[in-house]
Amino acid sequence: MPKEHPTILVYYNEPEKYAELLREHGYSTIRVARTPEEAAVQLAGAEVILCWNFPETLLFTPEASSVKWIQSIGAGVDHLVTKIPEHITVTRIVDQFGAMMAEYSLGYMLFHNKGMARLLASQHNRKWEPFRADTLEGKVLGIAGLGSIGSEIAERALAFNMVVHGLSRGADKAGRVDVHFLASEWKAFVKELDYLVLTLPLTADTHHTIDRELLMEMKPEACLINIGRGGLIVEEELVETLQVRPSFTAVLDVFEKEPLAEDSPLWTLPNVIITPHVSGQSRFAEVGRYFVENLALYAEGAALKGTVNQSRGY
Ligand code: GLV
Repeated sequence: MPKEHPTILVYYNEPEKYAELLREHGYSTIRVARTPEEAAVQLAGAEVILCWNFPETLLFTPEASSVKWIQSIGAGVDHLVTKIPEHITVTRIVDQFGAMMAEYSLGYMLFHNKGMARLLASQHNRKWEPFRADTLEGKVLGIAGLGSIGSEIAERALAFNMVVHGLSRGADKAGRVDVHFLASEWKAFVKELDYLVLTLPLTADTHHTIDRELLMEMKPEACLINIGRGGLIVEEELVETLQVRPSFTAVLDVFEKEPLAEDSPLWTLPNVIITPHVSGQSRFAEVGRYFVENLALYAEGAALKGTVNQSRGY
């Protein structure tokens, strides 16, 4: 006997789009909310929540007793893990961000390597200023985190004939890179790198991994790209490193506190590129398909795709 369709609450800035898609797939008990206040009103009786940044304190209220499963619209779930009641299953999107985030990483590696900022400045000043450009070929890239995003970066970097090093918790992904390091080997991992890309989830184990000591182990002219989470880095210590090492570059898409405060020293450091958390973005059609597939698995009582291991943190 198939289960009855669950009541679904969609919490997002454009919830109606998802609600319409769900209706097309035969789901009729759908509620929508755009703000925490609306979510508080719509929560009672909801069994499944499709959301981004759901106000997690609401999940401890009596109205949330019916909630069994939260499907997050994004990849990172640090805002949910350990902050919600344990009996609620959390699923995240896996496999959808790799291409976009690999393009972002390679794009900024090329921008850095080819001296594009300098070329644009020359053009702006109407100056013909040739210089010897570098190549990514043979440069050593380190990727911290070898899940679907890290693996797609590795694949593309190998096509540029870069030497790819990778760091991950277990050795099962070692085959995706030229040289593999475990999480106990951070110092050895960063030493040789020309580029370091962080794709790690933020967990108790990865929080503030990149501190002054580790940064000082890196080559003074290396480039750090953070597309994981701001909390992976001790931000003040990165600022200090960038100040004392003018040849060191940081490309930062994520920050401990977003939006980045207007008075952050990062904005004006000449060796920093700041982007407003745009390297990987959820796409409606793909997320919609993923959720509908997961709803079918949920109805069968089967394992859901992207289920988060609460104790591991992702
Ligand atoms: C965005 O940062 C996400 O985790 O999906």
